[in-house]
Amino acid sequence: MTEPDLTIQTIRTQVFAGQQPGTSGLRKKVTVFQQPGYLENFVQSIFDSLQGCAGQMLVLGGDGRFHNRQAVQTILKMAAANGIGRVLVGQGGILSTPAVSCVIRKRQAFGGIILSASHNPGGADGDFGIKYNIGNGGPAPEKITEAIYARTQAISEYRISDAPDIDLDRLGACAVDGMAVEVIDPVADYAEQMSQLFDFDAIRKLFAGGFTMRFDAMSAVSGPYATAILERMLGAPRGSVMHGQPLEDFGGHHPDPNPAHAAELIDLMSGEQAPDFGAASDGDADRNMIVGQKLAVTPSDSLAILAANATVAPGYKNGIAGIARSMPTSCAADRVAEALGVPCFETPTGWKFFGNLLDAGKVTLCGEESYGTGSSHIREKDGLWAVLFWLNLLAASGKSVRELVQQHWARFGRNYYSRHDYEGIATERANALMDGLRAQLPAMKGQMLGSHRVELADDFHYADPVDGSVSSHQGVRIVFDDGARIVFRLSGTGTSGATLRVYFEKYEPDSSQHDLPTQQALADLVAIAEQIAGIAEHSGMARPSVIT
Ligand code: G1P
Ligand code: ZN
Repeated sequence: MTEPDLTIQTIRTQVFAGQQPGTSGLRKKVTVFQQPGYLENFVQSIFDSLQGCAGQMLVLGGDGRFHNRQAVQTILKMAAANGIGRVLVGQGGILSTPAVSCVIRKRQAFGGIILSASHNPGGADGDFGIKYNIGNGGPAPEKITEAIYARTQAISEYRISDAPDIDLDRLGACAVDGMAVEVIDPVADYAEQMSQLFDFDAIRKLFAGGFTMRFDAMSAVSGPYATAILERMLGAPRGSVMHGQPLEDFGGHHPDPNPAHAAELIDLMSGEQAPDFGAASDGDADRNMIVGQKLAVTPSDSLAILAANATVAPGYKNGIAGIARSMPTSCAADRVAEALGVPCFETPTGWKFFGNLLDAGKVTLCGEESYGTGSSHIREKDGLWAVLFWLNLLAASGKSVRELVQQHWARFGRNYYSRHDYEGIATERANALMDGLRAQLPAMKGQMLGSHRVELADDFHYADPVDGSVSSHQGVRIVFDDGARIVFRLSGTGTSGATLRVYFEKYEPDSSQHDLPTQQALADLVAIAEQIAGIAEHSGMARPSVIT
């Protein structure tokens, strides 16, 4: 057998990869990524922006969506051409976002590249994405993403080896043009970490006693993780994981675990034959939805309930240092933090803002209303982690999901909560709506809106308590003196037009009032939002496209 004659090619490119400012990666239609040189431009810009990456170890994998395998092969050849020392790549090109974070930390890698567009639809007409995570396992901070972005706009060539593709399905060591590659089991390191954080014996007993659950992997990357951990390690009956086979187009569905997109699970959990517990995760397995019989737990409540009961899990038995939540997430966690005597931080939307707080040991648990929950164990949110935490809590308490939720409300009060999304608004119209709101803010304080008095009205601004960096214009918030809030912001993750998100919250201390339908409880706030923002007029939509 003769050795192939390998060369490093320097290819000139005219393609510029445009990234949404302020986002942690690049997310575009697959067809955009398929343009010659597009992915290459971004990957070369990553390598050009990372100081000291030569000779270092990187982790690489993605959520298995359309274009994943091809992109993995391209990135391996570019890593070789750019002098990277070693790449750990998930078998089949698969690694969930939390697993990348876990592997980077455990193997002390220099960083990692994640291929995913999270919960966005996949397939040839769907979305694709790429982002870089740093050595702490978390998304690159803004100064790195800005450097990458600047480089994408200036770059004129990229470096790639002409080595052949590697066999991504065969575990073990191989090489690309002299660069060491190890194809790793995508689940092993992650599963081991979960077994250390949670009481697997107690959860095994729970299943052995007849407890039933359905985990909806939504034909996305959590499938292999959930099947290995829930069914094989914890003894959940076979079939407890539904849609467990990752598909390139997620079966044509929107792999977003919320009541709108995981309707099949919600139907099952509402029926007479409902299992004891239901859960779902998104495209790259970092989001989670928790469902009891006839009850979907809001992510804001889930964070608060886990925080209030954290010590049931071995990984948190010494208590938590603090909690962080994104600004639009309900204040339910704040009440728990107060009771525990620990701080609660309010950050802008996006997981990257939790990284510094976690690294500094200021918080242990974090969460977002958008079905994201996580902890200091990694630097990404973690879908299956949340599900295992709930299973640990159910096993330790012997209570049902409904009992746990109702007891929590009885003790802390209920924060009724809902988010209304208006998708596909023309960008100028969405900006005009936000500008109109901002103009009203200075005069709002002290005003009565319906039966609520405005205590605070601002455009949220965050100064990171660890490094002092400042993030402005993070969303308009109107806080009332009875604990109700309305928040308006534009999505930073969409790939077409603008999406307006309006978040509603109302605090109800009286347990006799805890059983209202959510939209009914929030109806007066919804009317106030329309009155001050003119949503119907600006968006051209009489009602939201998605309510969660
Ligand atoms: C959305 C969520 C946000 C989350 C992000 C990434 O961003 O609202 O909480 O961190 O996806 O999963 P948005 O589209 O609102 O900017
Ligand atoms: Zn995700």
